[in-house]
Amino acid sequence: MTAISIDAPHDIRDLALADEGRRRTEWSERSMPVLRQIRARFAEERPLAGRRIACCLHVTTETANLMITLRAAGAEVALCASNPLSTQDDVAAHLVRDHGVHVYAIKGEDNETYYTHIAQALAFGPDLTQDDGADLVGSLHMISLGRLGDLSGPVRRMAEALSVEERTALVARVRGSTEETTTGVIRLKAMAIEGILQFPIVAVNDSRTKHMFDNRYGTGQSTLDGIVRATNILLAGSVTVVAGYGWCGRGLAMRARGAGAHVIVTEVDPVAALEAKMDGFEVMPMEEAASRGDLFCTVTGNIHVIRAEHFRRMKDGAIVANSGHFNVELDLDGLAEISTARRHVREFVEEFVYDGRRIMVLGEGRLINLAAAEGHPASVMDMSFANQALAAEFLVEHEQTLERKVHCLPASVDAQIASLKLAAMGTGIDTLTDEQVTYLASWDAGT
Ligand SMILES: NC(=O)c1ccc[n+]([C@@H]2O[C@H](COP(=O)([O-])OP(=O)(O)OC[C@H]3O[C@@H](n4cnc5c(N)ncnc54)[C@H](O)[C@@H]3O)[C@@H](O)[C@H]2O)c1
Repeated sequence: MTAISIDAPHDIRDLALADEGRRRTEWSERSMPVLRQIRARFAEERPLAGRRIACCLHVTTETANLMITLRAAGAEVALCASNPLSTQDDVAAHLVRDHGVHVYAIKGEDNETYYTHIAQALAFGPDLTQDDGADLVGSLHMISLGRLGDLSGPVRRMAEALSVEERTALVARVRGSTEETTTGVIRLKAMAIEGILQFPIVAVNDSRTKHMFDNRYGTGQSTLDGIVRATNILLAGSVTVVAGYGWCGRGLAMRARGAGAHVIVTEVDPVAALEAKMDGFEVMPMEEAASRGDLFCTVTGNIHVIRAEHFRRMKDGAIVANSGHFNVELDLDGLAEISTARRHVREFVEEFVYDGRRIMVLGEGRLINLAAAEGHPASVMDMSFANQALAAEFLVEHEQTLERKVHCLPASVDAQIASLKLAAMGTGIDTLTDEQVTYLASWDAGT
């Protein structure tokens, strides 16, 4: 990395934290060999030269490596947080001081500041955006549809300060966007179905080298890491309830079992529930699981999965967390309504008292792996962010031809990323013989 000592526009905790951020970012970089190779090629080819990219991502050491890669490709970059609790303040400082990234993110920022930072990233005037949860693209579309009243205060005020022509130009300038997570992709596909998408999207989450690894192994490990850091509980011997058996839920259930927990899965999809059952987990409705669990974690992408009726049935001391994208999976307003007292008992742990029983809510119901831990390990984000970097290049290469819909990266990109990762891990695989290629392409041979 070359320090360029540009004091870029920013709103961060403290620039003096930059040295620590640099050290930790370099630590992650060691585990990101695929992204490193892409960065080296980008530095030569400069595929994003002159492009302005606004990113709304968790401000972690892994994201820093992605930002440095975009800078190496020639882009100007602005970064805001995709969650008020997920920012690592030292990383933010490092990106501003050493890489000239415009960073607007402070760990623990309130809602007003969070949306002020989104407004600042939009005001940067991006050609491309990168989202984790569709906050930037959602805001741009509210602006484009003239639905300023539906925007959060600071974004609305930023939009209102622009003329109609300036608002149109802000949206028209955007040639495409990438989306990191399941929840964001669901929202963008809903926009595509409504026919309102203003530019093409690449659903990075839908790459196999993203969701099969990041959502499963990354979320599985880092969610437990966050829960354990926040509480220091012993998982062995506990009853752990995992709500949702998608990619994240599979990983979380697998890792909780590995740590010695008895795992119960709740689901709404009969196929996913059947898979959980045949993977050897107990499956039951949340209403039954509520009275059994010592620890609960939601990973559904849905709203109010654990509600007052469930909190009412929980044991004294039950611990409740969420690792799905938004902080709506736990109905904390419902819990507050039935509670007679609440207090902070340690960092990231709030105790609610209901009918003499104590329920511990972790990290305000926000992504616990990012609130109380450091998010996914760099080794898995290597592949996710290789996809992000290549998706930005893909959008620029195909900007004249891509339709305004949600696209996946070509399967060849998955194969390329997986091959680079395997090579970095020193793992070889077989190749098809000519005979096998012919056999697989025929219907009458070898029967
Ligand atoms: N913590 C992280 O770092 C991280 C990483 C990746 C994804 N995510 C987020 O986690 C969430 C899940 O992602 P995924 O990739 O596993 O999605 P997925 O679509 O693969 O799985 C979600 C599962 O939840 C189930 N579900 C929906 N409503 C439910 C309910 N009321 N009760 C029980 N189950 C229910 C669905 O049937 C589905 O099987 C999303 O919000 C995603 O954005 C978080």
